[in-house]
Amino acid sequence: PAPVVYGEGSRPPRGDYARDGLVLADYTCPQNYAAYTAQDHDTYRQLFDRQSALVPGLACDEFIAALPLLGVKDRIPRFEEINARLTPATGWEVVAVPGLIPEVPFFTLLANRKFPVTDWIRTPEEMDYIVEPDVFHDLFGHVPLLFNPVFAAHMQAYGAGGLKAHGLGACEQLSRLYWYTIEFGLVRQADGLRAYGAGILSSSGELQHSVRSPEPQRLALDVTRCMRTRYKIDSYQQTYFVIDSFQQLFDLTAPDFTPLYAQVQTLGELAADARNAGDTLVSLA
Ligand code: PHE
Ligand code: FE
Repeated sequence: PAPVVYGEGSRPPRGDYARDGLVLADYTCPQNYAAYTAQDHDTYRQLFDRQSALVPGLACDEFIAALPLLGVKDRIPRFEEINARLTPATGWEVVAVPGLIPEVPFFTLLANRKFPVTDWIRTPEEMDYIVEPDVFHDLFGHVPLLFNPVFAAHMQAYGAGGLKAHGLGACEQLSRLYWYTIEFGLVRQADGLRAYGAGILSSSGELQHSVRSPEPQRLALDVTRCMRTRYKIDSYQQTYFVIDSFQQLFDLTAPDFTPLYAQVQTLGELAADARNAGDTLVSLA
């Protein structure tokens, strides 16, 4: 068949991992900036405006401090523009991918301080909810904290730890830690609970819910407890895990997980809303 050339106004289908051979062996691809339509840029602008208005008092200080470093707010940024600031700050680099990628290439990129960002953006119908990560979730949710040296070091350690977990058949357990920290984590600051997880920071509904609602349970992060806990992918979380600082997250996850994975196997799974002996509840306010 004739090769398809993507350019002005012609977008590659979501999750096209072939793209005329443009996707490399490490699953990265060009950002394909010319393919964004005026509507795509407008969607980004609307999402950015809405979400940045919500973060005061709900997102952690480090996130709020770094958000301006994403640069332009009225269109989808070029990844090179972000890298010009990010790489000098922490050695991290944003790279484009066509969508979710398999575990090993994902962990390998993180271990090399490369953060994979999906290059396409949701449709206007998906403004409030999208089932898979798009460029807004990945940039707004994940990238600001990569400017923080401690969080940046933690993300790299997570990548290296992922490769190790893969060898041990423990990816599911490790992915629960990712979910409850990097995606849905809360941090206790001097002035109260705040969000640092990307899934919360990029969601208009869950940002408020996770930080303020009396409904979910909030537990002090315990790595074993966290890796035993199943999670919801189609509703707000019923349990959030709370850290005191990124340094604490780094320190709690620094030990060798090999014995923990075995322990988690023995202890077994817990439901997303389970209460368990030994849980340390974190109260609101
Ligand atoms: N310390 C973990 C291990 O040895 C790796 C890891 C680091 C996992 C940071 C998550 C976050 O397996
Ligand atoms: Fe994410």
